[in-house]
Amino acid sequence: MSEIMQPQSAIHNTQALIAMIRSHYQSDDFIPLHAPCLGEPEKQTLNACIDSTFVSSVGEFVTELEQRFIDYTGARHAVAVVNGTMGLFLALKVAGVESNDLVLTQSLTFVATANAIKMLQADPLFLDVDSSSYGLSADSLEAFLNEQACQKDGNCVHKSTGKVIRACVPMHTLGFAAEMDRIVEICQRHRIKVIEDAAESLGSFYQGQHTGTFGEMGVFSFNGNKIMTTGGGGMLVTNDDQLARHAKHLSTTAKIPHAWLFEHDEIAYNLRMPNLNAALGVAQFDRLPNFLEEKKVLADSYRDFLIQQSNLTMMQGLATAQPNYWLNGLILSDQPSRDVFLQKTNEAGIQTRPLWTPMHQLDMYKDCIRTVLPNTEWLAERVVNLPSGVKCHG
Ligand SMILES: Cc1ncc(COP(=O)(O)O)c(C=O)c1O
Repeated sequence: MSEIMQPQSAIHNTQALIAMIRSHYQSDDFIPLHAPCLGEPEKQTLNACIDSTFVSSVGEFVTELEQRFIDYTGARHAVAVVNGTMGLFLALKVAGVESNDLVLTQSLTFVATANAIKMLQADPLFLDVDSSSYGLSADSLEAFLNEQACQKDGNCVHKSTGKVIRACVPMHTLGFAAEMDRIVEICQRHRIKVIEDAAESLGSFYQGQHTGTFGEMGVFSFNGNKIMTTGGGGMLVTNDDQLARHAKHLSTTAKIPHAWLFEHDEIAYNLRMPNLNAALGVAQFDRLPNFLEEKKVLADSYRDFLIQQSNLTMMQGLATAQPNYWLNGLILSDQPSRDVFLQKTNEAGIQTRPLWTPMHQLDMYKDCIRTVLPNTEWLAERVVNLPSGVKCHG
């Protein structure tokens, strides 16, 4: 058993933690889990966007946000989309996922990961998460493929159903990077495409490389609860010229560029991020280094405080990774102590949340193929997310 599987002592001093959180945020009011920080810079770019009259999917802010992403993540291409869910859908589509295919992913994720797979009439197949990275377990992936898959006509095929395992979607849980070198190597060996669900991991690195840039494609979310926001929005990144071109083409109704003609060469979608949202994103991007710095300070404070108070564990992630500390996760001893903690903190006006109900426990996904999921269930029963937003001064 790994370190994280050892039982932890229950929290004795919730009141002291509440006091610490209130003192950090210098507030006696309701403290949200993660509020966006918006102010004058965002108002300025939004006003500039309105003045330009380019408020829909064409405009300089969309192009600028894409370029900022390329510069920051090191990916060759970035395609701005309406949100992370549809970014995942688009990535799976251009990766060639078709109806009846299987797509490997983790059960411990936000439901959008599985929904995006289902939107293509493919089925998610749930693997376990790793007890140290909290992302897709390379061990679970390797064992599953070695035992239950074979190669047929250049595809990876699930032996018992005969279905093609077309893609694998590891998710960087709460901004903690998954073990991407191993995951990519295993998938390459089995001819499976890797699409990273990097929705939560802008600013997170693995072995010095930005998350989302290890697989064929990576997808980020700028929902209002993420480390930076565009209201709603997402970004698909890739190093592959052809995939980037196709993703952008499909996101813009597959229109063939022309000064006046409306010619389209595929049935496609309207998934491009509007310029208004991108304007917000450009202003937010300037703040990202400060957001990351402040979140690291808060994560360190939580860890130091909890070790002193009650010897409790905060989620840490892999030593080879640099998390963005999007959401801080406290690991309690068992589900009953988690529930008491959730109740006490929320009653005191401190918003805390459990992790997601694992996908294999949701009605619509309970019949999907899955492996044993001990780490998924262990973490889902014990983790509580603590307030993690930055202190915003406009
Ligand atoms: C892991 C994960 N995947 C996908 C998404 C979907 O992103 P969006 O809300 O932008 O559609 C989110 C966040 O909302 C997420 O946390």
